[in-house]
Amino acid sequence: MKNIWKKHGVLERRSILLTVAILLVVSVGGLVEIAPLFYLESTIEKVKGVRPYTPLELAGRDIYIREGCYNCHSQMIRPLRDEVERYGHYSLAAESMYDHPFQWGSKRTGPDLARVGGKYSDDWHRDHLIDPRSVVPESVMPPYAFLSGRELELKDVQAKLAAMTKVGVPYTQDMIDNAKADLMTQADPFSPARDLKGRYGDAVLQRDFDGDPARLTEMDALIAYMQMLGTLVDFSTYQAEAPENLR
Ligand code: HEC
Repeated sequence: MKNIWKKHGVLERRSILLTVAILLVVSVGGLVEIAPLFYLESTIEKVKGVRPYTPLELAGRDIYIREGCYNCHSQMIRPLRDEVERYGHYSLAAESMYDHPFQWGSKRTGPDLARVGGKYSDDWHRDHLIDPRSVVPESVMPPYAFLSGRELELKDVQAKLAAMTKVGVPYTQDMIDNAKADLMTQADPFSPARDLKGRYGDAVLQRDFDGDPARLTEMDALIAYMQMLGTLVDFSTYQAEAPENLR
């Protein structure tokens, strides 16, 4: 029995073997701690108001990804005082539960955008995207004026929603079937929105986002997405739940 305690000498004298053993132990520990989080339902607390994106917002999000906005902007407000004072309530896991891929970002050349929705008017966003320096003279953000000139591609709208269901976003068949109609409705303030709001909730913003009612452009989609960001949860009524073991 006494000799057993001397066996660790084998490891201690061989640094490579020791390194391998450490890696083994650490990875088993990591697996045990992290792997269950991917399967537990309770990892992401359900929060009222969070819904899958409308087809127009989803198209806008795709443009956000295509243009690499995430290279300069994060979408995750950390629970630190300076962040909360600058940007608003810290981000909840539920707020990005339908983001595939997630848009938390890792670099802030520009500010966090997780709660940019409703902060500015559509006109401000349009002017800013066309020429950032026209509204923020010291800005180093590149211009995206071409977005107003590009018609929004509509042929793959349904496929985009269907693809999202494969990774767990709960779009219904009804939502997928009507994706194109819902997209057009949201960007046209004069078309009846009953069905769109029936599917995505009364708070869905319906208007002409890019200031050019004659055309449906990529600018419409991107601004619709920006104006929704961070607005789904009503923080005047939201109450964080204590973890079960602390109740
Ligand atoms: C090279 C880095 C860079 C890229 C890429 C970039 N931005 Fe920015 N963005 C900035 C900087 C810097 C600011 C702050 C100055 C300003 O308001 O223009 C900013 C500001 C903003 C703001 C205002 C935020 C606020 O709270 O005042 C919005 C909205 C925005 N960007 C959206 C976008 C979108 C959408 C894209 C992609 C189409 C994008 N940005 C791409 C750097 C960038």
